Amino acid sequence: MNNETEFRAFVIRQDEHGEVTGSVEQLSLNHLPEGNVVVKVAYSGVNYKDGLASTSNGQIVRRYPFIPGIDMAGTVVASDHPEYREGDEVICTGYELGVSHEGGYSQYVRLKGEWLLPLPQSLSLRDAMAIGTAGFTAALSIERLIHNGLHPSQGPVLVTGATGGVGSFAISMLSRLGYEVVASTGKTDQSGWLHKLGAQEVIPRIEASVATKGAIAAETWAGVIDPVGGPALSTILKQVQYGGSVAVSGMTGGGRFESSVFPFILRGVNLLGIDSVYCPMKKREAIWSRLAGEWKPESVLVEGTVEYELTDLPVLLQGILQGEAVGRSVIRL
Ligand SMILES: NC(=O)c1ccc[n+]([C@@H]2O[C@H](COP(=O)([O-])OP(=O)(O)OC[C@H]3O[C@@H](n4cnc5c(N)ncnc54)[C@H](OP(=O)(O)O)[C@@H]3O)[C@@H](O)[C@H]2O)c1
Repeated sequence: MNNETEFRAFVIRQDEHGEVTGSVEQLSLNHLPEGNVVVKVAYSGVNYKDGLASTSNGQIVRRYPFIPGIDMAGTVVASDHPEYREGDEVICTGYELGVSHEGGYSQYVRLKGEWLLPLPQSLSLRDAMAIGTAGFTAALSIERLIHNGLHPSQGPVLVTGATGGVGSFAISMLSRLGYEVVASTGKTDQSGWLHKLGAQEVIPRIEASVATKGAIAAETWAGVIDPVGGPALSTILKQVQYGGSVAVSGMTGGGRFESSVFPFILRGVNLLGIDSVYCPMKKREAIWSRLAGEWKPESVLVEGTVEYELTDLPVLLQGILQGEAVGRSVIRL
Protein backbone atom coordinates (compact mmCIF):
# COMPACT_ATOMS: atom_id res chain seq x y z
CA MET A 1 0.00 0.00 0.00
CA ASN A 2 1.34 3.45 -0.96
CA ASN A 3 -0.02 6.93 -1.62
CA GLU A 4 -1.09 5.85 -5.13
CA THR A 5 -3.35 3.08 -3.75
CA GLU A 6 -6.84 3.62 -5.16
CA PHE A 7 -10.14 3.24 -3.34
CA ARG A 8 -13.79 4.36 -3.41
CA ALA A 9 -15.34 7.09 -1.28
CA PHE A 10 -18.55 9.12 -1.14
CA VAL A 11 -17.53 12.69 -1.94
CA ILE A 12 -19.70 15.79 -1.52
CA ARG A 13 -19.09 18.80 -3.78
CA GLN A 14 -20.62 22.28 -3.85
CA ASP A 15 -21.59 23.88 -7.19
CA GLU A 16 -21.46 27.58 -8.09
CA HIS A 17 -25.03 28.07 -6.75
CA GLY A 18 -24.03 26.67 -3.35
CA GLU A 19 -25.91 23.38 -3.96
CA VAL A 20 -24.24 20.33 -2.32
CA THR A 21 -24.43 16.90 -3.95
CA GLY A 22 -22.62 13.66 -3.29
CA SER A 23 -21.49 10.71 -5.40
CA VAL A 24 -19.08 7.79 -5.23
CA GLU A 25 -15.63 8.65 -6.61
CA GLN A 26 -12.34 6.84 -7.14
CA LEU A 27 -9.57 8.45 -5.05
CA SER A 28 -6.01 7.64 -4.04
CA LEU A 29 -4.46 7.84 -0.57
CA ASN A 30 -2.87 11.15 -1.65
CA HIS A 31 -6.30 12.73 -1.22
CA LEU A 32 -6.55 11.88 2.48
CA PRO A 33 -5.56 14.39 5.19
CA GLU A 34 -2.59 14.05 7.54
CA GLY A 35 -2.66 11.52 10.35
CA ASN A 36 -0.49 8.89 11.97
CA VAL A 37 -2.79 5.88 11.36
CA VAL A 38 -4.38 4.56 8.14
CA VAL A 39 -7.46 2.35 8.62
CA LYS A 40 -9.14 0.14 6.05
CA VAL A 41 -12.78 0.87 6.84
CA ALA A 42 -15.21 -2.04 7.16
CA TYR A 43 -18.38 -0.17 8.20
CA SER A 44 -19.60 3.36 8.81
CA GLY A 45 -22.96 4.47 10.25
CA VAL A 46 -25.70 6.76 8.94
CA ASN A 47 -26.37 9.50 11.48
CA TYR A 48 -28.58 12.60 11.50
CA LYS A 49 -25.39 14.70 11.57
CA ASP A 50 -24.22 12.98 8.36
CA GLY A 51 -27.50 14.07 6.78
CA LEU A 52 -26.86 17.66 7.88
CA ALA A 53 -23.25 17.44 6.67
CA SER A 54 -24.44 16.53 3.18
CA THR A 55 -26.74 19.53 2.68
CA SER A 56 -25.90 23.10 1.74
CA ASN A 57 -27.44 24.65 4.88
CA GLY A 58 -26.46 21.97 7.41
CA GLN A 59 -23.66 24.11 8.90
CA ILE A 60 -21.47 21.09 9.57
CA VAL A 61 -19.00 20.99 6.66
CA ARG A 62 -17.11 24.14 5.68
CA ARG A 63 -14.90 23.02 2.76
CA TYR A 64 -15.48 21.00 -0.41
CA PRO A 65 -14.90 18.51 -1.89
CA PHE A 66 -15.24 16.53 1.32
CA ILE A 67 -15.85 12.94 2.50
CA PRO A 68 -18.54 12.82 5.24
CA GLY A 69 -19.13 9.98 7.73
CA ILE A 70 -18.81 10.78 11.47
CA ASP A 71 -18.00 7.23 12.57
CA MET A 72 -16.22 4.15 11.28
CA ALA A 73 -14.86 0.74 12.31
CA GLY A 74 -12.06 -1.03 10.50
CA THR A 75 -8.56 -2.53 10.51
CA VAL A 76 -5.29 -0.62 10.85
CA VAL A 77 -3.13 -0.99 7.72
CA ALA A 78 -0.33 1.46 8.64
CA SER A 79 0.56 3.19 11.89
CA ASP A 80 3.16 5.54 13.36
CA HIS A 81 1.19 5.67 16.59
CA PRO A 82 2.74 3.78 19.53
CA GLU A 83 -0.55 2.13 20.57
CA TYR A 84 -1.68 0.79 17.17
CA ARG A 85 -0.18 -1.77 14.80
CA GLU A 86 -1.13 -3.19 11.44
CA GLY A 87 -4.01 -5.66 11.88
CA ASP A 88 -5.57 -3.97 14.96
CA GLU A 89 -9.34 -3.60 14.79
CA VAL A 90 -10.45 -0.12 15.82
CA ILE A 91 -13.44 2.24 16.17
CA CYS A 92 -13.68 6.00 15.78
CA THR A 93 -16.72 8.12 16.62
CA GLY A 94 -16.78 11.90 16.80
CA TYR A 95 -13.79 14.25 17.10
CA GLU A 96 -13.34 15.93 13.71
CA LEU A 97 -14.15 12.84 11.64
CA GLY A 98 -16.67 13.64 8.89
CA VAL A 99 -16.87 17.28 10.02
CA SER A 100 -13.51 18.95 9.30
CA HIS A 101 -11.46 15.78 8.66
CA GLU A 102 -12.28 13.37 5.79
CA GLY A 103 -14.70 10.81 7.25
CA GLY A 104 -15.86 7.23 7.26
CA TYR A 105 -17.74 7.00 3.92
CA SER A 106 -14.48 5.86 2.41
CA GLN A 107 -12.67 2.56 2.03
CA TYR A 108 -9.66 4.13 3.78
CA VAL A 109 -9.28 6.88 6.40
CA ARG A 110 -6.09 8.51 7.66
CA LEU A 111 -6.50 10.06 11.10
CA LYS A 112 -4.98 10.74 14.51
CA GLY A 113 -4.38 7.59 16.55
CA GLU A 114 -5.65 9.56 19.58
CA TRP A 115 -9.17 9.40 18.13
CA LEU A 116 -9.17 5.58 17.97
CA LEU A 117 -10.43 3.01 20.40
CA PRO A 118 -9.58 -0.72 20.18
CA LEU A 119 -12.60 -2.80 19.14
CA PRO A 120 -13.97 -4.47 22.31
CA GLN A 121 -13.54 -8.26 22.15
CA SER A 122 -17.16 -9.33 22.06
CA LEU A 123 -18.17 -6.95 19.24
CA SER A 124 -17.70 -7.46 15.51
CA LEU A 125 -16.77 -4.47 13.32
CA ARG A 126 -20.35 -4.55 12.02
CA ASP A 127 -21.82 -4.54 15.57
CA ALA A 128 -19.55 -1.64 16.47
CA MET A 129 -20.92 0.51 13.65
CA ALA A 130 -24.48 -0.70 14.10
CA ILE A 131 -24.07 0.73 17.61
CA GLY A 132 -21.90 3.61 16.35
CA THR A 133 -22.40 7.22 17.43
CA ALA A 134 -26.11 6.63 18.07
CA GLY A 135 -25.71 3.68 20.45
CA PHE A 136 -22.74 5.30 22.16
CA THR A 137 -24.80 8.47 22.74
CA ALA A 138 -27.72 6.45 24.08
CA ALA A 139 -25.36 4.67 26.49
CA LEU A 140 -23.80 7.99 27.59
CA SER A 141 -27.32 9.28 28.29
CA ILE A 142 -28.21 6.22 30.38
CA GLU A 143 -24.94 6.46 32.29
CA ARG A 144 -25.63 10.13 33.15
CA LEU A 145 -29.20 9.35 34.27
CA ILE A 146 -28.00 6.54 36.51
CA HIS A 147 -25.18 8.72 37.86
CA ASN A 148 -27.88 11.25 38.79
CA GLY A 149 -29.89 8.69 40.71
CA LEU A 150 -32.15 6.88 38.21
CA HIS A 151 -33.23 3.40 39.36
CA PRO A 152 -35.77 0.94 37.87
CA SER A 153 -37.91 1.16 41.03
CA GLN A 154 -38.73 4.83 40.37
CA GLY A 155 -41.12 4.34 37.45
CA PRO A 156 -41.23 4.86 33.69
CA VAL A 157 -38.41 6.30 31.60
CA LEU A 158 -39.47 8.26 28.51
CA VAL A 159 -37.49 7.88 25.26
CA THR A 160 -38.27 10.40 22.50
CA GLY A 161 -37.45 9.93 18.81
CA ALA A 162 -37.99 6.27 19.64
CA THR A 163 -37.59 4.79 16.16
CA GLY A 164 -34.35 6.70 15.45
CA GLY A 165 -30.77 5.63 16.16
CA VAL A 166 -30.31 7.12 19.64
CA GLY A 167 -33.91 6.35 20.61
CA SER A 168 -33.98 2.70 19.56
CA PHE A 169 -30.67 1.92 21.31
CA ALA A 170 -31.86 3.70 24.45
CA ILE A 171 -35.01 1.52 24.51
CA SER A 172 -33.03 -1.66 23.98
CA MET A 173 -30.49 -0.96 26.74
CA LEU A 174 -32.93 0.49 29.29
CA SER A 175 -35.20 -2.51 28.93
CA ARG A 176 -32.24 -4.87 29.28
CA LEU A 177 -31.35 -3.06 32.52
CA GLY A 178 -34.85 -3.62 33.93
CA TYR A 179 -36.40 -0.18 33.33
CA GLU A 180 -40.02 0.35 32.30
CA VAL A 181 -39.65 2.19 28.98
CA VAL A 182 -42.25 4.43 27.35
CA ALA A 183 -41.43 5.17 23.71
CA SER A 184 -42.59 8.44 22.15
CA THR A 185 -42.74 8.31 18.36
CA GLY A 186 -44.16 10.03 15.31
CA LYS A 187 -44.42 6.60 13.65
CA THR A 188 -47.01 4.77 15.71
CA ASP A 189 -47.21 2.19 12.88
CA GLN A 190 -43.82 1.02 14.26
CA SER A 191 -45.31 0.17 17.68
CA GLY A 192 -44.84 -3.57 17.18
CA TRP A 193 -41.15 -3.12 16.47
CA LEU A 194 -40.71 -0.75 19.45
CA HIS A 195 -42.34 -3.33 21.73
CA LYS A 196 -39.94 -5.96 20.34
CA LEU A 197 -37.01 -3.69 21.24
CA GLY A 198 -38.28 -3.57 24.82
CA ALA A 199 -40.75 -0.66 25.09
CA GLN A 200 -43.63 -1.42 27.46
CA GLU A 201 -45.78 1.40 26.10
CA VAL A 202 -45.72 3.38 22.86
CA ILE A 203 -47.20 6.90 22.81
CA PRO A 204 -47.54 9.48 20.01
CA ARG A 205 -44.93 12.27 19.86
CA ILE A 206 -45.25 14.63 22.80
CA GLU A 207 -46.26 18.02 21.42
CA ALA A 208 -45.25 21.48 22.51
CA SER A 209 -48.80 22.83 22.53
CA VAL A 210 -49.40 21.65 26.11
CA ALA A 211 -46.49 23.86 27.13
CA THR A 212 -48.58 26.95 27.55
CA LYS A 213 -50.83 25.37 30.18
CA GLY A 214 -49.54 25.51 33.76
CA ALA A 215 -46.04 25.75 35.18
CA ILE A 216 -45.80 22.07 36.03
CA ALA A 217 -47.82 18.95 35.20
CA ALA A 218 -48.42 15.54 36.78
CA GLU A 219 -45.17 13.84 37.84
CA THR A 220 -44.83 11.11 35.22
CA TRP A 221 -41.26 10.32 34.15
CA ALA A 222 -38.51 9.05 36.45
CA GLY A 223 -36.07 9.96 33.69
CA VAL A 224 -36.04 11.01 30.04
CA ILE A 225 -33.74 10.34 27.10
CA ASP A 226 -34.38 13.11 24.58
CA PRO A 227 -32.56 13.15 21.23
CA VAL A 228 -35.41 15.30 19.76
CA GLY A 229 -35.22 18.55 21.77
CA GLY A 230 -37.15 21.51 20.37
CA PRO A 231 -40.34 23.02 21.79
CA ALA A 232 -41.69 19.68 23.14
CA LEU A 233 -38.88 19.69 25.71
CA SER A 234 -40.70 22.40 27.65
CA THR A 235 -43.70 20.05 28.02
CA ILE A 236 -41.50 17.14 29.02
CA LEU A 237 -39.67 19.13 31.71
CA LYS A 238 -42.99 19.78 33.44
CA GLN A 239 -43.77 16.04 33.58
CA VAL A 240 -40.56 14.86 35.26
CA GLN A 241 -40.86 13.40 38.75
CA TYR A 242 -39.33 15.13 41.75
CA GLY A 243 -35.50 14.91 41.48
CA GLY A 244 -35.64 13.25 38.05
CA SER A 245 -33.38 14.02 35.09
CA VAL A 246 -33.66 14.65 31.36
CA ALA A 247 -30.65 13.72 29.20
CA VAL A 248 -30.75 15.91 26.07
CA SER A 249 -28.60 14.87 23.13
CA GLY A 250 -30.26 16.10 19.95
CA MET A 251 -32.36 18.47 17.94
CA THR A 252 -34.40 16.63 15.31
CA GLY A 253 -37.44 18.51 16.69
CA GLY A 254 -35.62 21.85 16.70
CA GLY A 255 -32.77 23.68 18.39
CA ARG A 256 -34.76 25.90 20.73
CA PHE A 257 -37.19 25.46 23.60
CA GLU A 258 -38.70 27.68 26.27
CA SER A 259 -39.05 26.80 29.91
CA SER A 260 -39.94 28.51 33.15
CA VAL A 261 -37.68 27.87 36.14
CA PHE A 262 -40.46 25.95 37.94
CA PRO A 263 -39.52 22.35 37.03
CA PHE A 264 -36.04 23.14 38.38
CA ILE A 265 -36.93 25.03 41.55
CA LEU A 266 -40.13 23.19 42.54
CA ARG A 267 -39.14 19.64 41.54
CA GLY A 268 -35.33 19.75 41.51
CA VAL A 269 -35.35 18.47 37.93
CA ASN A 270 -31.92 18.08 36.27
CA LEU A 271 -31.32 18.95 32.63
CA LEU A 272 -28.28 16.97 31.52
CA GLY A 273 -26.39 17.79 28.32
CA ILE A 274 -24.94 14.83 26.43
CA ASP A 275 -21.95 15.20 24.10
CA SER A 276 -20.44 12.20 22.36
CA VAL A 277 -18.00 14.10 20.11
CA TYR A 278 -15.37 15.20 22.61
CA CYS A 279 -16.23 12.69 25.33
CA PRO A 280 -12.92 11.97 27.16
CA MET A 281 -11.16 8.73 26.15
CA LYS A 282 -11.37 7.11 29.62
CA LYS A 283 -15.13 7.50 29.63
CA ARG A 284 -15.36 6.26 26.01
CA GLU A 285 -13.54 3.09 26.98
CA ALA A 286 -15.80 2.53 29.99
CA ILE A 287 -18.99 3.09 27.94
CA TRP A 288 -17.85 0.85 25.04
CA SER A 289 -16.97 -1.89 27.47
CA ARG A 290 -20.58 -1.74 28.78
CA LEU A 291 -21.91 -1.67 25.21
CA ALA A 292 -19.95 -4.84 24.54
CA GLY A 293 -21.00 -6.45 27.82
CA GLU A 294 -23.87 -6.09 30.26
CA TRP A 295 -25.60 -3.28 28.29
CA LYS A 296 -25.20 -4.89 24.85
CA PRO A 297 -28.25 -3.71 22.83
CA GLU A 298 -28.95 -7.11 21.27
CA SER A 299 -32.51 -6.27 20.23
CA VAL A 300 -31.38 -3.47 17.88
CA LEU A 301 -28.36 -5.43 16.65
CA VAL A 302 -30.64 -8.32 15.73
CA GLU A 303 -33.91 -6.58 14.78
CA GLY A 304 -32.96 -3.07 13.78
CA THR A 305 -29.81 -2.86 11.65
CA VAL A 306 -29.75 -2.86 7.86
CA GLU A 307 -26.60 -2.90 5.66
CA TYR A 308 -26.25 -0.63 2.62
CA GLU A 309 -23.62 0.35 0.03
CA LEU A 310 -21.92 3.72 -0.56
CA THR A 311 -24.17 4.26 -3.58
CA ASP A 312 -27.26 4.16 -1.32
CA LEU A 313 -26.09 7.20 0.67
CA PRO A 314 -27.90 10.00 -1.23
CA VAL A 315 -31.30 8.39 -0.50
CA LEU A 316 -30.42 7.40 3.09
CA LEU A 317 -29.06 10.85 4.00
CA GLN A 318 -32.12 12.59 2.62
CA GLY A 319 -34.42 10.16 4.44
CA ILE A 320 -32.76 10.67 7.84
CA LEU A 321 -33.23 14.44 7.56
CA GLN A 322 -36.92 13.91 6.84
CA GLY A 323 -37.34 11.89 10.04
CA GLU A 324 -37.89 8.65 8.13
CA ALA A 325 -35.12 6.66 9.85
CA VAL A 326 -36.17 3.48 11.60
CA GLY A 327 -33.37 1.79 13.55
CA ARG A 328 -29.82 1.90 12.31
CA SER A 329 -28.38 1.88 8.78
CA VAL A 330 -24.76 0.89 8.27
CA ILE A 331 -22.65 1.31 5.15
CA ARG A 332 -20.51 -1.69 4.23
CA LEU A 333 -17.26 -0.46 2.71
N1 LIG B 1 -25.02 15.02 21.46
C1 LIG B 1 -24.38 14.12 20.72
O1 LIG B 1 -23.21 13.83 20.90
C2 LIG B 1 -25.18 13.41 19.65
C3 LIG B 1 -24.82 12.14 19.21
C4 LIG B 1 -25.65 11.46 18.31
C5 LIG B 1 -26.79 12.09 17.83
N2 LIG B 1 -27.05 13.35 18.24
C6 LIG B 1 -28.27 14.04 17.78
O2 LIG B 1 -29.39 13.31 18.23
C7 LIG B 1 -30.45 13.43 17.29
C8 LIG B 1 -30.89 12.04 16.86
O3 LIG B 1 -29.84 11.41 16.14
P1 LIG B 1 -30.09 10.01 15.44
O4 LIG B 1 -28.84 9.68 14.73
O5 LIG B 1 -30.72 9.08 16.41
O6 LIG B 1 -31.18 10.44 14.34
P2 LIG B 1 -32.32 9.57 13.66
O7 LIG B 1 -31.90 8.15 13.54
O8 LIG B 1 -32.73 10.33 12.46
O9 LIG B 1 -33.51 9.62 14.73
C9 LIG B 1 -34.18 10.81 15.01
C10 LIG B 1 -35.63 10.52 15.33
O10 LIG B 1 -36.21 11.75 15.78
C11 LIG B 1 -37.60 11.74 15.47
N3 LIG B 1 -37.88 12.95 14.68
C12 LIG B 1 -37.49 13.23 13.43
N4 LIG B 1 -37.95 14.42 13.03
C13 LIG B 1 -38.66 14.91 14.06
C14 LIG B 1 -39.41 16.10 14.27
N5 LIG B 1 -39.51 17.05 13.34
N6 LIG B 1 -40.00 16.28 15.46
C15 LIG B 1 -39.89 15.35 16.42
N7 LIG B 1 -39.21 14.19 16.28
C16 LIG B 1 -38.60 13.98 15.11
C17 LIG B 1 -37.86 10.49 14.64
O11 LIG B 1 -38.29 9.48 15.54
P3 LIG B 1 -39.86 9.13 15.73
O12 LIG B 1 -40.46 9.15 14.35
O13 LIG B 1 -39.86 7.78 16.35
O14 LIG B 1 -40.46 10.19 16.59
C18 LIG B 1 -36.48 10.11 14.14
O15 LIG B 1 -36.39 8.76 13.81
C19 LIG B 1 -29.90 14.31 16.16
O16 LIG B 1 -30.25 15.66 16.39
C20 LIG B 1 -28.39 14.13 16.28
O17 LIG B 1 -27.69 15.20 15.73
C21 LIG B 1 -26.29 14.02 19.14
